[in-house]
Amino acid sequence: MSSSISTVTPGREEVRKTTPGPILLLGAPGVGKGTQAKELIKVWGIPQISTGDLLRGNVAQGTELGKTAKEIMGRGELVPDILVNEMVAVRLQQADTANGYILDGFPRTLVQAKWLDERLAALGGALPLVAVSIKVDYNQLLRRITGRRNCPVCHSIYNLYGKPPVKEGFCDVDGAALAQRADDTEKVFEERMRAYEALTAPVVEHYRALGRFAEVDGDRPIAEIAVGIVAAIERLRS
Ligand code: AP5
Ligand code: MG
Repeated sequence: MSSSISTVTPGREEVRKTTPGPILLLGAPGVGKGTQAKELIKVWGIPQISTGDLLRGNVAQGTELGKTAKEIMGRGELVPDILVNEMVAVRLQQADTANGYILDGFPRTLVQAKWLDERLAALGGALPLVAVSIKVDYNQLLRRITGRRNCPVCHSIYNLYGKPPVKEGFCDVDGAALAQRADDTEKVFEERMRAYEALTAPVVEHYRALGRFAEVDGDRPIAEIAVGIVAAIERLRS
């Protein structure tokens, strides 16, 4: 099946008519999965499904899932597979996923990856998943994590060093006061990296081995990386 995309122009506020299908963004904490997901939304108009954002939403609302997840996330460890899979299953039932979606931060373990593969296979007829892994070195990641600020209202992502807001401390889009994530400290980042190496790096190899996989250099300007990701997806879908 081909999505037959003819041109690649991320950043233009247009929604393509073609069907992108499920897209998986892989990579360590701070590589730019969330940032690039927002670039892909501009291109295809499909939703971003960030398990980190969904879990933080549960924490903020004080749900049972949020109460369980809060301390685990605060330590930089992974929330149990069964809870995350259930959360994703509910999200994938929503109508906005019909033409595709961008998975950001899921799957993050081989158990999650196999759950997703089986679920997509059972659906039959849908476009197969394409996976893009973003690579950035450790020191750059640490700088990105400690410099990150988020808008709690519209979820725009900023960085004190690389992408500061126009007015310091406030969101360019809605003027809300920017916040720092509780897990964006050097100590918790180190634990998140340990979890990534032990549990998520094998997921990258799983999708590399399955094919429909691309790797991009994430240490470049955001728009340039987005062009590379869209081109890779276009190639993998042809
Ligand atoms: P999650 O929220 O997914 O965090 P993460 O994977 O650690 O990734 P980040 O969100 O920190 O980074 P990102 O790659 O999205 O980078 P961003 O675009 O923001 O997960 C948090 C926690 O939730 C986990 O630790 C775990 O506890 C739990 N969890 C989530 N999913 C789970 C799952 N599936 N199973 C179990 N537990 C789960 O960019 C980072 C910064 O860099 C920003 O400031 C940005 O402006 C800047 N930046 C981006 N691109 C560039 C660039 N090209 N140049 C310069 N700066 C850039
Ligand atoms: Mg993110």
